[in-house]
Amino acid sequence: MSLSFETLLLDVDESGVCVLTVNRPDKMNALNNQVFEELDSALDHIRESKEIKALIVTGAGDKAFVAGADIKELNTLGDSEAKKKSLRGQRVFQKLEDLTIPVIAAVNGYALGGGCEFAMACHVRIASENALLGLPEVSLGLIPGYGGTQRLPKLVGEAKALELTLTGRFVKAEEAKEIGLVNQIAEESALESAKEMVKSMLKQGPLALKNAILAIKESGNESGYNSEANLFGELYNTDDFKEGTSAFLEKRKPSFTGK
Ligand code: COA
Repeated sequence: MSLSFETLLLDVDESGVCVLTVNRPDKMNALNNQVFEELDSALDHIRESKEIKALIVTGAGDKAFVAGADIKELNTLGDSEAKKKSLRGQRVFQKLEDLTIPVIAAVNGYALGGGCEFAMACHVRIASENALLGLPEVSLGLIPGYGGTQRLPKLVGEAKALELTLTGRFVKAEEAKEIGLVNQIAEESALESAKEMVKSMLKQGPLALKNAILAIKESGNESGYNSEANLFGELYNTDDFKEGTSAFLEKRKPSFTGK
């Protein structure tokens, strides 16, 4: 890969799994302007790449996934700059959520504030046993500004989202799983568990994965059922559909081409 970043590490393995690591371990991987700029370009690259089939995001070191927006930078802003920063954070995390390949957060420690919002913009979250998640912005006299007030209620319901946002308390991995904030707790490493999950996803038809993501992202919209039917019908024109059904009838494993 030709791209190189100072605050991110990108690694793509031979099966097309990209691991994107936020790499500021001495600052608990806090999201400063440079991280956001680099993340924006990295996501453009990932979206356009034919090689990348799934994305796992994580944080460097074993203490933090991402401990939030960089508080040092937040401290110096005026109100209009703060609004711009919020809109940029929302846009970049939306770009992450809108990817049509599986996107998994391997939450390997603190996922606070913007870090929790980063994880929530992923399609699936896997937490390490030492993970702590939360939106502590109110303790700074702020509110979440990178989509957290919109995504948390979708995951955990409005009442729990209000409780967590208004107290700013951190939840441990066990509770996060219980309330639906994370999907799974890793027995050993969150990254290894994420790789395992991705492996089982990548055995499926790639075009089916894409259309499933697109359809689920329409849930709650008035046009959701209609989109589902269109996306379902579209797959009938693919080689993957023919291969998947033939393989079942011929009692063999399918070999998908993504066409
Ligand atoms: N922004 C900027 N720097 C941060 C940061 C953040 N969100 N989170 C941690 N850091 C920095 C610390 O300032 C410290 O830097 P220093 O060594 O130059 O002083 C370094 O990362 C290590 O953090 P430290 O607080 O010493 O580690 P800890 O193990 O005692 O505590 C946390 C870890 C995550 C509990 C604590 O750092 C924390 O509360 N961070 C802020 C969380 C937050 O409010 N996030 C929401 C922001 S919107």
